[in-house]
Amino acid sequence: MNDETLKLTGEQGLEEAVAMLRAGQCVALPTETVYGLAGLAADEEAVLGIFEAKARPADHPLIVHLPSIEHLVHWATDVPEMAYQLARTFWPGPLTLLLKKHPDVSSLVTGGRDTIAVRVPSHPLFLRVLSKLNQALAAPSANPYKQLSPTTADQVLAGLNGRIPAVLDGGASEFGLESTIVDLVAKTPSILRAGPISRQALESVTGMPIHAPERHDVAVPGNVEAHYQPHTRLRCVSSEALQSMDLANTGVVCWSAASANVSAETDSCTLRELSDDPVNFGRALYQTLAELDVMGFRLLVVEQPPQTEPWAAVNDRLKRAAG
Ligand code: TXA
Ligand code: MG
Repeated sequence: MNDETLKLTGEQGLEEAVAMLRAGQCVALPTETVYGLAGLAADEEAVLGIFEAKARPADHPLIVHLPSIEHLVHWATDVPEMAYQLARTFWPGPLTLLLKKHPDVSSLVTGGRDTIAVRVPSHPLFLRVLSKLNQALAAPSANPYKQLSPTTADQVLAGLNGRIPAVLDGGASEFGLESTIVDLVAKTPSILRAGPISRQALESVTGMPIHAPERHDVAVPGNVEAHYQPHTRLRCVSSEALQSMDLANTGVVCWSAASANVSAETDSCTLRELSDDPVNFGRALYQTLAELDVMGFRLLVVEQPPQTEPWAAVNDRLKRAAG
């Protein structure tokens, strides 16, 4: 399709989004993490439409969003008790569980794998769409392949205008970073992607250690190193290095008091100060990078946050954004 993408708002917009999805079309919807490009998970044509709009390789599995925990039995099999423990605690919310795929589920949605990623999102609009449909929605982040995930409807349009029929506007995403993914199929439960639900929070529920491998032994397509990238080259530098760097023609993102010493903003340098709190920093990160990305700088520089657990999700995305 090449027509303009519709921006849907309000009650009527919600009804239109539901009708389009029911008819097998793809619609971008707000979630509490980032915007997702949704389509009926049980409709192979709709799932193919998602891959096509994003130009996403067919072997990159999608996350299936369920209306409620009761739907789990239709999508996964041999579900361990730990999955229910985690789901009861964190759903609806930004936790994705990797489970064994139910044999009836099309392997299109799982990129040919025998595992499936599922979650119940907490964004009120997404939940209402799910409950009206009473069907699961496959939804990867609503960005062209490899690019930054959108946290607003306008950011969806910046990447996919003309490639999808509609986006439902639900304001800015609460977390701004993708969900935590926990693999419950592996021998030991492990975090495949750091996100808003921390390892500590997970362990407080499971009562056993959750692994958080620095690198994953199995390269999962869609979890590749070069991902979440702006077009402009990006570097992370220490607070100290930032103060002595040549920042001509750069966009700078910082979080600490060090920014006060960064050579005063010149015509060719734009400084964006984000919070020194990882949750607030994470919420603003993609939007800030997206804004700086279109300003034509030679380089984006991000002040490296501390290498501590609360910053795990932010650090993971920054590492990938830097390629
Ligand atoms: O917060 C989120 O999770 C957002 C919102 C829209 O829900 N979705 C999202 O989807 O980030 P996506 O497609 O951009 O990222 C999905 C991740 C990929 O890294 C993919 O490899 C992994 O989930 N994944 C999905 N199914 C998998 C599977 N069967 N095995 C291993 N990894 C899987
Ligand atoms: Mg994505």
